[in-house]
Amino acid sequence: MTTPPPLGDRLKGMLEPAQIMKWAMSHYIRVCAEAVFKKGEIFAPILQIDRLRDEAFGRFWVEFSTPAPNATPAPAEPEPVLETDPETETETFQPGQNTNGSSDLIPPLLRTANGIVLDIGPGTGTQMPLLRSPSISTIYGPEPCTGLHEKLRARAIAEGISSKYHILASGAAASQLLPALRDSGTGVTEAYDSDPRSGIFDTIICVRVLCSVPEMERTVDELYGLLKPGGKLLVTEHVVNAWRTAKGSFLARVVQGVYQVFGWSFFIGDCALDRDTEGVLLRAARSDGGWEVVDLERSFAWSVMPYLSGTLVKKSSI
Ligand SMILES: C[S@@+](CC[C@H](N)C(=O)[O-])C[C@H]1O[C@@H](n2cnc3c(N)ncnc32)[C@H](O)[C@@H]1O
Repeated sequence: MTTPPPLGDRLKGMLEPAQIMKWAMSHYIRVCAEAVFKKGEIFAPILQIDRLRDEAFGRFWVEFSTPAPNATPAPAEPEPVLETDPETETETFQPGQNTNGSSDLIPPLLRTANGIVLDIGPGTGTQMPLLRSPSISTIYGPEPCTGLHEKLRARAIAEGISSKYHILASGAAASQLLPALRDSGTGVTEAYDSDPRSGIFDTIICVRVLCSVPEMERTVDELYGLLKPGGKLLVTEHVVNAWRTAKGSFLARVVQGVYQVFGWSFFIGDCALDRDTEGVLLRAARSDGGWEVVDLERSFAWSVMPYLSGTLVKKSSI
């Protein structure tokens, strides 16, 4: 159970995304300035916006997800922290700390990954230490931001899983992912290519990535199709604030909208703060009469970054 922090701390927490956005914006300005003044690409900030955004986001994410030397690890995203109060066994907000509350949701979830795994949008490989289990045979990491691949590769080597980790220069959409999987030369799509109902993956991991994929509903439907019968989708995603529910917050929902208007998506790699990811995930299995197991929970419901986390299991007989 999560207990909302005092109002002052909740308001302070709502400003944290502004700090993150300022940080990402400074990278974008620097990348534009370099294009114009160093490389002489004077029209690039007008004609090549996507390229510059991609480069700026890559640099930002490398910096953001890499802990400074001798520092405590940086959070993967701005968020309130939860700590368990041993007396009440509830989780309480720690004021003034910008640490990784939602990161605590990830390890127990990813420890259940097995078989052939799809780790969508792995970034710099923050979650790789959780994917060393021998019950995982192969991992495919489609990461469209190629500026992150070097870090990703280095992380796979450092974690001793480089022989089974395949980095793909691809997004999560099937139109990009399937060709990239075929090009990997591993033969992983062979069974799927002769019978798509057999699927490809035993586990699909979505950690802080569905907020960024274009056409989320379509992509999630496609990912559902790539799960083997009985396969599982592991999710930790920040979502729209469910302000109509008792635990939600109207103010946090408004602030989410304000950040969107002021360019959150533009500067943070297309990330959106206001997606109904739960609805989309639940609908993905509609053609099979729903998921076999839905085990999802919400955390930080009062905040600008409420989280949805848990497991969805595809029916084994479809
Ligand atoms: C917020 S980061 C999260 C990275 C990593 N999953 C983690 O938890 O540290 C989002 C990642 O999703 C990637 N991404 C964006 N659009 C994507 C897409 N369409 N398909 C796959 N990954 C995507 C971004 O490049 C970025 O690395």
